[in-house]
Amino acid sequence: MSFDVLAPHYTWLEAVLAGRRLQRARTAWLEQLTGCGEILIAGVGHGHFLRRCARRFPQARFTSVDASAAMLARAEIHARRAGIEPGRARFIHATLPDWRPERRAFDAVVTHFFLDCFPPDELADVVEALAAGAGGAAVWLLSDFAIPARGIARQRARAIHALMYGCFRRVTKLRAHRLTEPDPLLAGHGFTLLGRRTSEWGLLRADCWVRGGPAGFGFGMNPNAF
Ligand SMILES: C[S@@+](CC[C@H](N)C(=O)[O-])C[C@H]1O[C@@H](n2cnc3c(N)ncnc32)[C@H](O)[C@@H]1O
Repeated sequence: MSFDVLAPHYTWLEAVLAGRRLQRARTAWLEQLTGCGEILIAGVGHGHFLRRCARRFPQARFTSVDASAAMLARAEIHARRAGIEPGRARFIHATLPDWRPERRAFDAVVTHFFLDCFPPDELADVVEALAAGAGGAAVWLLSDFAIPARGIARQRARAIHALMYGCFRRVTKLRAHRLTEPDPLLAGHGFTLLGRRTSEWGLLRADCWVRGGPAGFGFGMNPNAF
């Protein structure tokens, strides 16, 4: 699997195919990172979220990991151009779950459009590796493509997923054939879903999970909220 071949085209493809929708999903729960000092971004891609987050929280420090050298290089170049000081952002070329973060070192874990890259067995290992790096009260922000429970929205999403996975499998040699729900895995590592926002008839989902948080949806479920 490698996103290298996609790297030169990733930003313009997103702009053409999705406009600002994915960035709205990435930043839906940005304010929940208030007070987080060390933030781990897995599968940073071109760093769209990294730059927005670094601007919003000038004291925070970032560790960005990506298996694609070409993606990571772009994230770093864009970050430097955006004025993010090298001391605040480190970039690690590594593949999860082989790469393991320092234990409990992070106040927040961010996985945007990342967990949907993995088949079930690998996803469990990736979540386990990332959860090990998360501190006792860590926040986990994630956004992904999703499949609504029922109705025409479900049929629509299934068709779009089939198309996307077909393309990504061909271009990047992705192993996953379909989306695997990460919720039970996150819950299994002590994270509680505080809030979920969806848009595009449930095709896009943005979650805020907290380790050791209160039971139930503290911020509620907000369909079409971004
Ligand atoms: C669909 S892109 C999403 C990029 C970015 N997070 C975003 O929101 O646009 C997935 C990214 O995860 C990286 N990736 C995929 N599998 C990985 C793995 N096992 N370890 C680390 N990075 C991986 C890819 O190289 C790619 O940059």
